[in-house]
Amino acid sequence: MEEKIAALRQSVPNAVQQTKTLIQLDEIRVKLLGKNGSITELMKGLGALSPEKKKEAGQLLNTFKNEVTALIESQKATLEEAELNAKLASQTADITLPCRPNTHSGRIHPVAQVMEEMLTIFAQMGFEMAEGPDIEDDFHNFEALNIPPSHPARQMQATFFMENTTDKVLRTQTSGVQIRTMESKKPPIKIVAPGRTYRRDYDMTHTPMFHQIEGLVIDTETNLAHLKSTLTEFMKLFFETDDVALRFRPSYFPFTEPSYEADVGCSRKNGEFVIKSGEDWCELLGCGMVHPDVLRTCGLDPNVYQGYAFGCGIDRFAMLKYGIPDLRSFFDADMRWIKHYGFLPLDIPSVISGLSFNGGAKR
Ligand code: DAH
Repeated sequence: MEEKIAALRQSVPNAVQQTKTLIQLDEIRVKLLGKNGSITELMKGLGALSPEKKKEAGQLLNTFKNEVTALIESQKATLEEAELNAKLASQTADITLPCRPNTHSGRIHPVAQVMEEMLTIFAQMGFEMAEGPDIEDDFHNFEALNIPPSHPARQMQATFFMENTTDKVLRTQTSGVQIRTMESKKPPIKIVAPGRTYRRDYDMTHTPMFHQIEGLVIDTETNLAHLKSTLTEFMKLFFETDDVALRFRPSYFPFTEPSYEADVGCSRKNGEFVIKSGEDWCELLGCGMVHPDVLRTCGLDPNVYQGYAFGCGIDRFAMLKYGIPDLRSFFDADMRWIKHYGFLPLDIPSVISGLSFNGGAKR
């Protein structure tokens, strides 16, 4: 018995390590440990031995069996990894190939499309893009924007607070990016900051997560006339009509002075919503001149620097432009909805080739 084990001990490790495939390895496993395998046969032979010999040979055989099992397992892992690597190597995708223009099944979400449209226009107007974190601290979301803890504007914004912190919130507005930008660079500043925002709200025109885009321009002479002309020009390009009327109503935001809400002229005749001057008004966005206290908090001297800010809901712009009635449907992940309202992947907005593709979502 000992000789037989010794002989196997000589040959088995090499044989296992030389296997090239999982099939070969399994053949060896069966030859050794299978029903009629050589180790199994030796096990069976133990019964014929004297009790002493049986104990000795049994221990030896068991140790050997464990060694062989471990060896096979380790070779199996090696072969599996090699097999996977070979598979991955043979399946590489050539990302330099042109994509197929008939990508008919995928759709771009209207929010993504409209965000892209807005950024395209602002980029053409010389705005840079800025970003801030979704999990914002109290200072950037409220305090530095002139909203101290007791301010009623805090209640109005139905904030989500992060668990176990007193300081962190899911940002209720993109306005915090104004602060982050002024902290990190000196004027002239001309940025737009798109992103997700969060409030505890849910009805036809409110969802707990929605999208805003913030604008900020700071230098030494930017004034209300610039704000008005920039927004008017933007609306013309975005809604793709020259017949745009904007109305600025006095309003209140803690971080601007004076503050306005801007409405766009529209028509709601026969249940159809059209952007045009003359008949009716539709609320669009908030804006104003950046409050001197906000500038001061960011280390800018309000006697030297001034500028405007604006902020609006991207989802709202998508609803207005593409006639989408219920905001909640944006986040239902319903395939029928996305097929209807979504855009083809190659509908890349550009001011020159067109923004909305034949004046509406291509379906
Ligand atoms: N942050 C405001 C809101 O969420 C919108 C806003 C109003 C942004 C006026 C501005 C602004 O930058 O100047 O309701």
